[in-house]
Amino acid sequence: MDLRCLYARGLELPHPLIAASAGTTEVLEKMRRCEEAGMSAVVMKTLFEEPAARKDPAPMFRTLQRRIGPARGTTFYTYEQGSHLDPQQFCEEIRKAREALDIKVIGSCACVSDEAWSEYPRLMEQAGADAIELNLSCPYSAHLTDNLAALPEFIEHATRIAREAVSIPLAAKMTPQMSSPPQMARLMERAGADAVVPFSRFPGLDIDIEAEAPLMHGGMAGHGGPWSLYYVLGWLWQIDQATDLPISSSGGVWQTDDLIKHLLCGADTVQLCTVLYIQGYQVAAAMLQGLRDWMEAKGYASLEDFRGKAGGRVLGMRQVERRQTVVAAIDPERCTSCGTCVRVCPHGAAKDVHEGPVSIVAEECSGCGLCVDLCPVTAIAMQPLPDGYRPRHRIASYYDVLSG
Ligand SMILES: Cc1cc2nc3c(=O)[nH]c(=O)nc-3n(C[C@H](O)[C@H](O)[C@H](O)COP(=O)(O)O)c2cc1C
Repeated sequence: MDLRCLYARGLELPHPLIAASAGTTEVLEKMRRCEEAGMSAVVMKTLFEEPAARKDPAPMFRTLQRRIGPARGTTFYTYEQGSHLDPQQFCEEIRKAREALDIKVIGSCACVSDEAWSEYPRLMEQAGADAIELNLSCPYSAHLTDNLAALPEFIEHATRIAREAVSIPLAAKMTPQMSSPPQMARLMERAGADAVVPFSRFPGLDIDIEAEAPLMHGGMAGHGGPWSLYYVLGWLWQIDQATDLPISSSGGVWQTDDLIKHLLCGADTVQLCTVLYIQGYQVAAAMLQGLRDWMEAKGYASLEDFRGKAGGRVLGMRQVERRQTVVAAIDPERCTSCGTCVRVCPHGAAKDVHEGPVSIVAEECSGCGLCVDLCPVTAIAMQPLPDGYRPRHRIASYYDVLSG
């Protein structure tokens, strides 16, 4: 099975799983753990020009839980900032890693001045970095929080300067705070990037309601979690269609299925971050094996057999089939009369029957699926429309338009 892929133009990897830039990749010992877990490359924790970004506040991590009824979510809320190292120490880590490891070592920098956008990549190239990721995305960068309107100009300017400074592959990392990531990818390509990296952490804010002030240190934090997968996939296929550059995607990957979804939406390589903090480095090996198993079951010999396939199947609004073909039906044997479907049905189609299982009136059901999803005992399933079905709950003209 051939898992070879491009991280960037000019940098091939044996497989697509990479450790994303974060504290989990800061020094040789951590990069070694990435190699031992089977990752094909490591993006080092970003070297910031701003000295303030080289010191973290403490504590810096919270896993915020939201549990409201059946709705659950976890956010990894983080104050971790840039690498603690200065440029010389950072380059020393690159040298040590190049000597000690077989996997590819990718430097990362976030600068303010033109001089540093040129100097930091050059120092990293001299130290032996295989590529550089320009961190044009960090939630702590003042230029991002203060002046998002100037972001395109900033991206183009910084990328061009770094491009002139080095000849090794350059990837440009994006913030998720953008109205048009595909446009930004084209801009990065024009400015000389060899790959695009969507996305970094979302900037976020949580509030301590006792103190009536921001949680932890009074500032914004980065946040992410399994929930961010859908946002990333939603843009990924569009970025894939907008640019010929390799895409190294990052966001919401926690298990094999997520990795496969990124690839199906057009990623060439896929980066792991939050999952490494929460579940440990070894998840990478299991994910990679899961990818191999899935490819074998599908009969795929290489990544190119399916990369971007699902992205190419995304329908436009007018193409989506809207005719109703199903209604909810209840299994009276399983129903415990808990009343969930009665409460959530937007059309009142689920009726409480005194001392018996709930009944669903087919003609009042729009087939929306909410009761199926929320029934705690899986007593409801979708069934084909009954013969002669004519819905009662919607106005005729609306129904007629939709059913053509
Ligand atoms: C604690 C933490 C620190 C991070 N530090 C950096 C960084 O220094 N440079 C960078 O480019 N991205 C950084 N990131 C962003 C990650 O590399 C990654 O793009 C993002 O977290 C989305 O992936 P995930 O959903 O797998 O976490 C950091 C993320 C976290 C959670």
